[in-house]
Amino acid sequence: MKQLALLISPLARGAFFADYLAACEVELGVLSSESAVHVPIGELDFFHLDLATEDVAKVARLSCVQGVFERRGDALVPMAVSTHFQLHADFVFGTKYRGKTNEVFTQFMLNLGLQHLELDARDKIKVLDPMCGRGTTLLWAMSYGLSAKGIEQHIKVFPEIHQSLKKWCKVHRQKHELSSGFVGASNKQNDGKFIRFKVGETALQIIKGDAADAAQILKGERFSLLISDLPYGIQHHTSDRTRNPLETLKACAEGWSASLKPGGVMVLGFNQYQPKRDDLAAVFRDHGLVVLPVTAPHRMSESIVRDVLVCKKPAG
Ligand SMILES: C[S@@+](CC[C@H](N)C(=O)[O-])C[C@H]1O[C@@H](n2cnc3c(N)ncnc32)[C@H](O)[C@@H]1O
Repeated sequence: MKQLALLISPLARGAFFADYLAACEVELGVLSSESAVHVPIGELDFFHLDLATEDVAKVARLSCVQGVFERRGDALVPMAVSTHFQLHADFVFGTKYRGKTNEVFTQFMLNLGLQHLELDARDKIKVLDPMCGRGTTLLWAMSYGLSAKGIEQHIKVFPEIHQSLKKWCKVHRQKHELSSGFVGASNKQNDGKFIRFKVGETALQIIKGDAADAAQILKGERFSLLISDLPYGIQHHTSDRTRNPLETLKACAEGWSASLKPGGVMVLGFNQYQPKRDDLAAVFRDHGLVVLPVTAPHRMSESIVRDVLVCKKPAG
């Protein structure tokens, strides 16, 4: 057993604002059922937590944690733990654009999803983000060594993603394969156009299309995790140009549920004001998913309180 002090990353404040400590506690619940104790030292925030020695390495991949220390009496001894990420951090953090999902929040969602996966669903974990924007979720998945697919309705993101991947591969001398093509026949709307990025055995693919058509676009492929940050801000519109994504999600729910493997987990980031949690949960319950009692609300602005909805597909 190790007695740890985890230094909370300043990036967590940027992701969760005034509610960052509560969000950290939710993520630390990924590691241990024992609750972690918040210990501020000056301007620094630590959480004290006791963990089995073999679990210490898992701390490195928590989105909220900047450093890991062992408590020895009053002294804090830094521990060398590694994330073993497969991509340089610039692939995830380096490119900034309007509408990007906060990178720390995206990793947080991925960690919650991984935590709730059932063991037999852990083999060859593949990640789907059916509203993937420019691919923050997919790039995190690749960093974790997981292959991922995404769907995005706007064709304009494709050249931007291509350019950004090319840039970071060049800067970091990352060996890779980058290709594009069509899923199905090419057409004037570019539906089915894809971009594929492969590093070693891990790949991501982004396909142009409507998230409501996920089952057809993905040709029945199933995923262990579905992680997505839903449209919630002024700059994000759903395909019907309304600001409340509920109607779009009703159209998506059947295909998203079908795209999950039994035992698979869906984590959605959403604005509590629209849709309401209960309404959102009901949409996915109606399609056979079980809503888990996980919540991490954090106020981002006057009109946005972001939260997560975590659902599981029964193992069958
Ligand atoms: C909050 S943003 C996701 C941003 C993304 N996580 C990133 O960091 O780049 C939501 C995305 O969903 C896309 N979207 C909304 N409705 C969609 C639909 N029906 N089908 C496909 N994509 C959709 C929007 O175009 C937007 O890029």
